[in-house]
Amino acid sequence: MTQDDFSGRLRIAVVVGSVRRPRLADPLAAWLERELGAIDWLELDMIDLAAVSLPMHEMQPGGAVPSPIGSRLANADAFVFLTPEYNHSFPAPVKNAIDWHFTEWAYKPVAFVGYGASGGIRAVEQLRTVLPELRATTVRESVLLPMAWEHLDADGRFVPPPGTVHALHTMMNELRTWARALRPLRAADPAGRA
Ligand SMILES: Cc1cc2nc3c(=O)[nH]c(=O)nc-3n(C[C@H](O)[C@H](O)[C@H](O)COP(=O)(O)O)c2cc1C
Repeated sequence: MTQDDFSGRLRIAVVVGSVRRPRLADPLAAWLERELGAIDWLELDMIDLAAVSLPMHEMQPGGAVPSPIGSRLANADAFVFLTPEYNHSFPAPVKNAIDWHFTEWAYKPVAFVGYGASGGIRAVEQLRTVLPELRATTVRESVLLPMAWEHLDADGRFVPPPGTVHALHTMMNELRTWARALRPLRAADPAGRA
C-alpha cells in the first residue's frame, strides 16, 4: 500500500454515553477532547447523547427514521465510546443510539473509554458483543478508569492517573490501524451492507 492510500485525516467520533445531570462524563469528555484534539492524524467530532433527541418510540429496525446524528455517525471513520457502567452494563442511551442507526456503524472500528467503580469493564465487554451485529469491529485495547471521581482537581478537571495517557494513545493507534484497514470496505456500495 502506498502512502497516498493513507492520505487525509481520519474522522473520529467520540460518543458520550451518559446523559445524566450532573455527570462524571463532563470532565472525562473534556479530558478526551483535549487529548484527542491534539492528535494530528484525526479530526474529532464529539457526539454528546445528552444533546441529542432519539425517541425510543420512533426507532425503526435498520435506522429507517432520519436521525439528528445520522450524518455525523456516517461521516466517521471510527468511534470512541465514552461509557460509564450502570448495573453491570452500559447505559440505556448508548443502546438506543446504537439501535437507532445501522449502516452508520458498518465496517468501522470502535474503541472504548470505560469508567465506573470497576472502570466500566463490564459495560465495555458487553458492547463488544453488540457491535458486530452492526458490522462494527472493536479494538483490543481499551482505557478503563476506575473511581475516576477520585481523580478530579479543585476545578473539577480530570487528572489522569499515571499510565492513562499512554494507554489512550496506544488504543488510538490501534483504532487508526483498523480504520485504515477497513477503508476499502467502507468505500464499497452501502447496499451491500443491508
Ligand atoms: C444507575 C447506576 C448504576 C451503577 N452501577 C454501577 C455498576 O454496576 N458498576 C460500577 O462500577 N459502577 C456503577 N455505577 C457507578 C457509575 O459508573 C458512576 O457513578 C459513573 O460516574 C457514572 O457516570 P456518569 O456520572 O457520567 O453518568 C452506577 C451508577 C448509576 C447511576
